[in-house]
Amino acid sequence: MSIIDQLAHIEQDALSTLPTISSVEALAEWKSSYLGKQGAIAKLSRELGTLPADQRPAAGQRFNAVRGTLESALSERETVINSAAQNDAFTREAVDVTLPGRPTVVGRLHPSTRVLRMIDGIFAEMGFQVWESPEVETDTLNFELLNIPADHPARDMWDTFYIDTPAGAEKVLLRTHTSPGQIHAMRAHAPNPVRVILPGKCYRYEQVTTRHEMMFHQVEGIAVGQNITFSDLKGTLIGFAERLYGSGTKTRFRPSYFPFTEPSVELDVECFLCKGDGCRVCKHTGWLEISGAGMVHPDVLRNGGYDPAIHSGFAFGMGPERITMLRHGIDDIRWFFSGDERFLEQFV
Ligand code: PHE
Repeated sequence: MSIIDQLAHIEQDALSTLPTISSVEALAEWKSSYLGKQGAIAKLSRELGTLPADQRPAAGQRFNAVRGTLESALSERETVINSAAQNDAFTREAVDVTLPGRPTVVGRLHPSTRVLRMIDGIFAEMGFQVWESPEVETDTLNFELLNIPADHPARDMWDTFYIDTPAGAEKVLLRTHTSPGQIHAMRAHAPNPVRVILPGKCYRYEQVTTRHEMMFHQVEGIAVGQNITFSDLKGTLIGFAERLYGSGTKTRFRPSYFPFTEPSVELDVECFLCKGDGCRVCKHTGWLEISGAGMVHPDVLRNGGYDPAIHSGFAFGMGPERITMLRHGIDDIRWFFSGDERFLEQFV
């Protein structure tokens, strides 16, 4: 068979196998076996030298023409295979845009933190600084300096977690209220005026029930200076209640007892739910108790470094969990620290 016939044979062979090729790999193989350096055409072209000189130019042209035909057939086939592969990928990786979206999980603040910040904000507007004081206290600060000596019956008001200390050492405990912060704040300012709130955690050695937790928050407030009167206390707490529950919210002060204030009161606000008619939230009294308060007792002023003949002041303490429970009709304080997401995610 002549070289030209062999070439025609190769061309026909190549063109007839090409349409059966459907993968990129097989196509590369096809290319190297016909058009590669060691391919059929290259091999055959080495025999061109055996032709008589006058036939070589025409044969060379024929070789080039076949190469050109195969190359353009190859690139056509390449386009077909690539677009098939792409279509394939499109179907395989298709995204169903009609599926409902999955919302991103957003972190949120604990309800107690939210209410604490709200309370902080209200008192900050009224000129109170936000202070912190330790959760671990001495018996002296938690009780003695607040007018509650060791055998005072008022100790029954606060069941206490004591911390083991060596015999003879001072008793150390987890604070049962934020009131020791009053002493810290006064001592840091006396004889200058002081006006701070002290939010933080408190601990009580109590049976945990729907209304009592062994850990909870309080916000203490204290203002000491000259000419501070009971009406300043009333004005401050009424202003607070109106900002928290809306202006015009009715309030009332009831006489009460705390060893570190004299006189002592309890602040009630009109039940926001029944507006005073009586319901389950206010236990049918029409009122909600939100804060203990009073004028700082002269002994306590003295313990804080002030002279009761010159200075006077008021103090108050409130429980943000209780305020939150009342706002949202939550009937069990244990929800707050149970870590149950179903409860927590309701507060956005
Ligand atoms: N410490 C009191 C309590 O835990 C609340 C209180 C604070 C009352 C300040 C009067 C003044 O119940």
